[in-house]
Amino acid sequence: MKILGIETSCDETASSVIDISKNNKITLMSNVIASSLVLHAKTGGIIPEVAARDQISHIIPVISQALEQAGVPNGQDIDAIAITYGPGLIGSLLVGVETAKTLSFAWNKPLIPVNHLYGHIYANWIDTPSLRANENEHGNDILPEFPAIALIVSGGHTDLVLMKSHKETVWLGGTRDDAAGEAFDKIGRILGLEYPAGPMIEELAKSGNAKTYLLPRPLKYDKSFDFSFSGLKTAALREIQKFSPPTSQKSLTTQTISDIARDVQDAIIDVLVYKTMNAAKTYKVKSIILGGGVAANLTLREEFLVQCSLFKVKFFAPPKNLCVDNAAMIATAAVFQGAETPWEELTADPELYFD
Ligand code: KG4
Ligand code: ZN
Repeated sequence: MKILGIETSCDETASSVIDISKNNKITLMSNVIASSLVLHAKTGGIIPEVAARDQISHIIPVISQALEQAGVPNGQDIDAIAITYGPGLIGSLLVGVETAKTLSFAWNKPLIPVNHLYGHIYANWIDTPSLRANENEHGNDILPEFPAIALIVSGGHTDLVLMKSHKETVWLGGTRDDAAGEAFDKIGRILGLEYPAGPMIEELAKSGNAKTYLLPRPLKYDKSFDFSFSGLKTAALREIQKFSPPTSQKSLTTQTISDIARDVQDAIIDVLVYKTMNAAKTYKVKSIILGGGVAANLTLREEFLVQCSLFKVKFFAPPKNLCVDNAAMIATAAVFQGAETPWEELTADPELYFD
């Protein structure tokens, strides 16, 4: 069985075909992503109207390419269409949702709406050679076991979810203000880095000295499973301002930027790992699952690996190309959680969250 996935919730236009074998093994047949990052790097962030207009020009070529690369150039040969219907930017979501509805009608194929946030979790169920490579002693043929704690860390979200089974999930907490990726991006912007700044901060942190600046760990010891990163951003801003004239004669050197990057990354990782491990211990889970763009951060993955082997919990994180927004994760989420919906009944829901 083959599912065509479509994802346009933010700035990417993505399409993918996955093949599902009888025992629910998910094989990636194609994974095409057109990014409009270059446009957003110029403006230091995403302008929704610009993103949606760009996606309109990409959507059909991206779907055609995904079908061709999967060896099913004729859309009639797929079995279902999975589509992200929220959360996200309304203009962007509409590009994908309306295209998927049209294809469902034209090809007479079932349409399966998917919550983007669950998509990030299900990137961990795709069987790719690089999945969990070098990270997990239990190899890449083993899937997450329930109960599990999923941490979704992206530019828009930081959420902890308890998964008792595929269909039984409980949202434990999320960010009260900025998401972890947003904190990386906003602090990066103050430092003069290009959007999105997460990967650059990770790179700079490698040559940064730890504990140069005493940055806060907001809500780390709070009883809730909530997060908060805006205070960290303000604290970083205050440190950076100390290097701006007329306050200071000192200038922001590459070493200073690296030191700040290191402390920012350490603070974010410290809170994410501590609270996730706390949730894992509280609910006595067997697996910890990471998803979202920030999950591409190697230091974060390494820290999780250390903690997970210490507490005998299995750790899962997708390969880097499946951490960022993609349509393969959407098609995979449709396999385990999706419910067919008639195309006439589907509307985009930008405010969609966890149930
Ligand atoms: O999941 P994603 O592609 O889009 C959203 O749904 O938000 O995540 C993008 C976010 C950005 O904030 C970006 O800075 C962050 O993921 N990111 C990283 C890294 N790679 C991407 N953050 C830290 N370290 C990285 N290596
Ligand atoms: Zn995302």
